Amino acid sequence: MKKLIALALAIVMVFGLVACGAGDGGVKTYKVGVAIYQYNDNFMTLYRQEIESYFKSLETDTVKYEISMVDGKNDMGEQTAQIETFITQQMDVIILNLVQTSSAEVLIDKVVAADIPLVLINREPLGETDESYPGIVNNDKVCYVGADARQSGTFQGEIVRDLPDQGDINGDGVVKYVMIQGDPENPDAQYRTEYSIKALTDAGIAVEELVNQVGNWDQTKGQEIAASALTQYGEEIDVIFCNNDGMALGAAAAIEAAGRKVGEDIYLLGVDALDECVEKIKNGTMTGTVLNDHIGQSHKAVDVAIQALNGEAIEDYYWVDYVKVDAEYVNQ
Ligand code: BGC
Repeated sequence: MKKLIALALAIVMVFGLVACGAGDGGVKTYKVGVAIYQYNDNFMTLYRQEIESYFKSLETDTVKYEISMVDGKNDMGEQTAQIETFITQQMDVIILNLVQTSSAEVLIDKVVAADIPLVLINREPLGETDESYPGIVNNDKVCYVGADARQSGTFQGEIVRDLPDQGDINGDGVVKYVMIQGDPENPDAQYRTEYSIKALTDAGIAVEELVNQVGNWDQTKGQEIAASALTQYGEEIDVIFCNNDGMALGAAAAIEAAGRKVGEDIYLLGVDALDECVEKIKNGTMTGTVLNDHIGQSHKAVDVAIQALNGEAIEDYYWVDYVKVDAEYVNQ
């Protein structure tokens, strides 16, 4: 009798497993490929961790998401191979943070040819006139989720414009600044560089660029550039603008090492609102930053990916707002 029961149980279990695998009445597992431009990036680390945990939070007893996340190591060849592997593995949807926006077309074409929905994030490919990208508007299953980098630049500039001395901390009549740029291939870097200064000149403020260098979003490079600018220009510098908080953290260290004091003889701005930088704004060692909402963006990207893998229609662009973060904001 015991043997019979054991046999019956075994049969039930086998059928159960088969049913699960088949997906009818059992568990349906979707395969999601996520390609990140580089794991070694402060902001994208928060972003990718949130993609994973948000997917997990949306799982149910019957719907699971199997996430394959890969590190492009800032190498376009590596990322192209990763996308080709995702296609071979027949992902149900792909989320892609491009290494190079100039390679967007090639990758979009590959994924579209395989009929896999594609959600581009964080690095926006721009069309000829800096506007809508053909590969996004012409393909029903391709979209971009991000934040408008022009807004973040404008907000940085407005924080400076709204200071009592409008950024001219040494009082020589001109806002002399150092610009530390992210990867210039990335529209976030181009727009933040341009629009932060535009917010000042639009307000009729006189500006002069002392240094403009590429720090590639990297903390160590930000520190090196700020340190040499401080050595070269000293008290002449009113403001150090960094295209992101990673580089601003580096610049903050250089400012301290040079014996300068934020808010007393220099201003320092970043973008992202990393926790460390919000702390610095609270204690006065940074002037301001702009919240780059990785939670809002990652959740939107995941929601849209799920819509797409369910065969629902998706829009071309989804925008998440930036938020100005200055002393007033953090003390609220
Ligand atoms: C962020 C940077 C980050 C970059 C990566 C930007 O939106 O502000 O911190 O390095 O994205 O592409």
